[in-house]
Amino acid sequence: MTIRTPPLLEVNALKKHYPLSGGLFGGNKGAVYALDGVSFTLEKGETLSVVGESGCGKSTLGKTILRLVDPTDGEVFLDGERIDNLPPSQLRQMRRRVQVVFQDPFSSLNPRQRVRDIIAEPIVNFGLARGSELDDRVAALMDKVRLPRDAMRRFPHEFSGGQRQRIGIARALAPGSDLIVCDEAVSALDVSVKAQIVNLLSDLQDELGLALLFISHDLAIVEHLTHRVAVMYLGKIVEIADRHALFSAPHHPYTRALLSAVPVPDPTIRRQRVILKGDVPSPINPPAGCRFHTRCPFVHDRCRAEEPVLRSAGQAGHVSACHLDDIPPIS
Ligand SMILES: Nc1ncnc2c1ncn2[C@@H]1O[C@H](COP(=O)(O)OP(=O)(O)OP(=O)(O)O)[C@@H](O)[C@H]1O
Ligand code: SF4
Ligand SMILES: [Mg+2]
Repeated sequence: MTIRTPPLLEVNALKKHYPLSGGLFGGNKGAVYALDGVSFTLEKGETLSVVGESGCGKSTLGKTILRLVDPTDGEVFLDGERIDNLPPSQLRQMRRRVQVVFQDPFSSLNPRQRVRDIIAEPIVNFGLARGSELDDRVAALMDKVRLPRDAMRRFPHEFSGGQRQRIGIARALAPGSDLIVCDEAVSALDVSVKAQIVNLLSDLQDELGLALLFISHDLAIVEHLTHRVAVMYLGKIVEIADRHALFSAPHHPYTRALLSAVPVPDPTIRRQRVILKGDVPSPINPPAGCRFHTRCPFVHDRCRAEEPVLRSAGQAGHVSACHLDDIPPIS
């Protein structure tokens, strides 16, 4: 009998509905269905990118896994152990293993702390080292993120955006984490700095066997970094595939439209730009059936009545939530 090793992270039918309060007199006025039944796995040392338009629920997914917000329903497992319902007393241990890097390093770093103390803080809080061992650990982390050691005595405002993001990454690595949620971690940086931080994350992943949940609205960046991609639309995952399959043979009409907007570096290749009709519907009152049906060029009666489930769309591991099997090119 073979015993299956559980994935590092397993997310099962995860939901986060933000209740809408009813103005002056309170009362229940419905909810924002920000995350509405999302499932996937992430292996040790793997990068899964989560992409989709603004408001589709990417950050809510990250925050719910991190327990910065409580889920409404569903399950999250870390190494096979359930973490979505941990009592506050046990959340600490989970937080040692799952860390986050946000988009704006400036607002997430304490401006009054020196870099040394910013990086040392999680090590001290988790009781992992002190004295000279603590100093050695901080110095090693500075090396890992390629910051000069003399930067330890300085304050966050003395650094550029890219360097501040290196400080944020060092702090996320500090407690010996297995998984880092990167929420638009490079989105605010200049193009060349973006590439440097992406390369740094890739190198750290190889060196440390880190898993990354890489949340980004920028598909061009994702293409250089990721192993697999999950595409979200209005609180749901509509397609998951490995990088190659997603970029070369996307299945879902929404994924195809998103990809059509990504610039192709090779001038001999032309992608037909797909302009989607209308705006993303409100997550307070998402469309019935397929949530994408109000904007889909292939909408038909079944789409308005029946919600498509994720099902095989090609190679193993490639799944898409669309009723159609063969989707013609979108023109
Ligand atoms: N605390 C909250 N209370 C109510 N609604 C919220 C809250 N946080 C997020 N939302 C709503 O949930 C939906 C998903 O938001 P979320 O921030 O997860 O999207 P996103 O994909 O990260 O977007 P972006 O690309 O702009 O960062 C949005 O409609 C948002 O307005
Ligand atoms: S199920 Fe229908 S509306 Fe949804 S993506 Fe497929 S064809 Fe389009
Ligand atoms: Mg976000």
